Amino acid sequence: MALEPYDDCWLRYGEVDGASLPESYRTYCANVYASVGAPELGAVREELRRGIDGLLGREPHLWQHPPRSAEGFLAVGTPDEMEVVHDSVAVDAVDSLADGGFHLRTTEWEGCDVLVLTAPTDRGLVYGTFHLLRHLSLGRSVDDLDLFEEPANAERLVNHWDNPFRRSMERGYAGQSLFDFEALPNLDDRYVDYARLLASVGINGVVLNNVNTEIPDRESANPAMSELAGWRLLESRYLEDLTGLAALFRRYGIRTYLSVNFGAPEKVGDLETSDPTDERVERWWAEKADEVYDLIPDFGGFVVKADSEGQPGPYNYDADHVDGANVLARALEPHGGRVWWRAFVYGSHSDRAVQQYETFEPLDGEFHDNVTVQVKNGPIDFQPREPISPVFGQMPDTDLGLELQITGEYTGQHVHACYHVPMWKEVLEFDTDPEGHGKRVKELFSDPGTGLAGVGGPGADPNWTGHYLAQANLYGYGRLAWNPDLDTATITDEWVRQTFGHDPEVVETVTDVMHDSWPAVVDYTTGGLGLMHMMYNGEARLENHYDPNPEEWPGYHGASEDGIGVDRNARANGFAQQYPDALADRYDDPETCPEELLLFFHHLPWDHELDDGRTVVQTLYDNCFAGVELAETLRERWRSLDGRVDERRFRHVAERFDEQVVQAERWAETLTAFFYDHSGVPDELGRVPRDE
Ligand code: GCU
Repeated sequence: MALEPYDDCWLRYGEVDGASLPESYRTYCANVYASVGAPELGAVREELRRGIDGLLGREPHLWQHPPRSAEGFLAVGTPDEMEVVHDSVAVDAVDSLADGGFHLRTTEWEGCDVLVLTAPTDRGLVYGTFHLLRHLSLGRSVDDLDLFEEPANAERLVNHWDNPFRRSMERGYAGQSLFDFEALPNLDDRYVDYARLLASVGINGVVLNNVNTEIPDRESANPAMSELAGWRLLESRYLEDLTGLAALFRRYGIRTYLSVNFGAPEKVGDLETSDPTDERVERWWAEKADEVYDLIPDFGGFVVKADSEGQPGPYNYDADHVDGANVLARALEPHGGRVWWRAFVYGSHSDRAVQQYETFEPLDGEFHDNVTVQVKNGPIDFQPREPISPVFGQMPDTDLGLELQITGEYTGQHVHACYHVPMWKEVLEFDTDPEGHGKRVKELFSDPGTGLAGVGGPGADPNWTGHYLAQANLYGYGRLAWNPDLDTATITDEWVRQTFGHDPEVVETVTDVMHDSWPAVVDYTTGGLGLMHMMYNGEARLENHYDPNPEEWPGYHGASEDGIGVDRNARANGFAQQYPDALADRYDDPETCPEELLLFFHHLPWDHELDDGRTVVQTLYDNCFAGVELAETLRERWRSLDGRVDERRFRHVAERFDEQVVQAERWAETLTAFFYDHSGVPDELGRVPRDE
């Protein structure tokens, strides 16, 4: 069966416009002298062949020695391996680059113009290759190049929420799981392209399966379904099948990780307990880790969702998160692996916002050295906008990981365009203690063992992400994980040009669409004042988070006759007081609380006046309708690209916008009717139907 061709995303390597093609591109890149040592170098040579062919219209000549007769060439290798590299760079400076770092330099060597790409490690050469090709794709000059790059964050993971034996993805909106676990050890060609996409933006770890390693919804009443869950990947026969996939990722500098079930000693092994304080359990994990590393020597480690949403954990054995995480950590330690222990734990509080800090902050300093506590950006759950989790900046003696959601679970599920990069920038730039010696969130993850985890990898859809424009979220996640100082405009421009080419009208229009997409979604799904989680859930846990249904979750918005919002301040549950004083004070007072979070922290009367003189309820009405108008504008802008973007992508996105506008209207109508029902206050502009 012929498969539909799938998309190259931002690795299109479209020919650089002939007229403006810098002559030096040919001088430096028509001949490539690349080292041939490690498997990573195979990936490097193949990418250069493909990329330069695409960009210059001709494959480069690949040499195994310096092509002295050529006018110039590209030299790729470590200083130890290649004389030309050794002679052309400051070797000490290269050697002191962080893992993954690289150096690009144009110079002259024995009468030839040489572009040197070097790094202390082979992995750095992989990243450097993609960086160089990006540089060329963007039409940037290579003359006088002298650039050192290294990742700001040590760990840069993508967390797949794929359910191995069902081939489904939790919160995935791009078809089936990309990975066909049943077919392993056979490898699909797409895996290579996926590894290329990840490496091109500097990702260095991939978690293959869902954190829900057992599926605790109503399906689990059927034992056969429960057998088809990710916990099984720790069984020896499945581990053996993973070795080829892990080797493929390794060529691209990416380590493989697994989500594991805390009850594995019982489920996978034959112990009758998984108590982390039991010696047999300790031994079981240690032996399992030995087995894993025998098969996959560079295995990254285990991700664990414990004591959360039905997954087993240390609480089952009267132990705590430190006991739980540390028993796994001790097993992985001799092999250089890590435990990523998720902090998404709630349930013992009526307001889940309160629990995370309360549970984890007292444990600061007690986790083993190779444990990373993985914390979602906000205290609730990947809502279109949330305050920062108070854990950040307040567990100085723990390695933290920032968990962001790449997939659009609450932001339109890849039917709607919603660019997450501006939201993530807000998170990363946030000052965790403005009047103390706090750090910005982005400064918390540079030590080894800290980093970012992006949830939701692509699926089997030909366009990888379901919505073409959602590709930008994967791109932007990787770029920010590598360098959180990059600004949104730079990332967007890079992505748009590599994905859609350099036509100025296309670049401007797509950039504007991306820029306004998140604010539109925030407005029509929340009203823009800090409300959230007003969507339909449905019976099965895995549905639906897409349609509006504000009646279903009263605890999240607190709507009543007298007002709306949730008191999370000193008057009530004290959530605001979990932050350092300067932030606590700011959030605690409705006068100083940022308007976009106002109703997250305060229950206020419907007629409470905001800075511009409008009431809370009128502002909610206005914002909901403004969101719809903005969605319509996005659709019009996209439509203006008819004929300028290839038919396939143009039509696909245009159709998604049609659906988005309908759904935005549905949201605005539902929310505004709900606000009116509770407040009894009519919309000043008469857009909300009134009681007769
Ligand atoms: C959310 C999401 C679930 C997921 C959970 C988690 O609740 O809706 O699908 O399992 O987060 O992060 O563990």
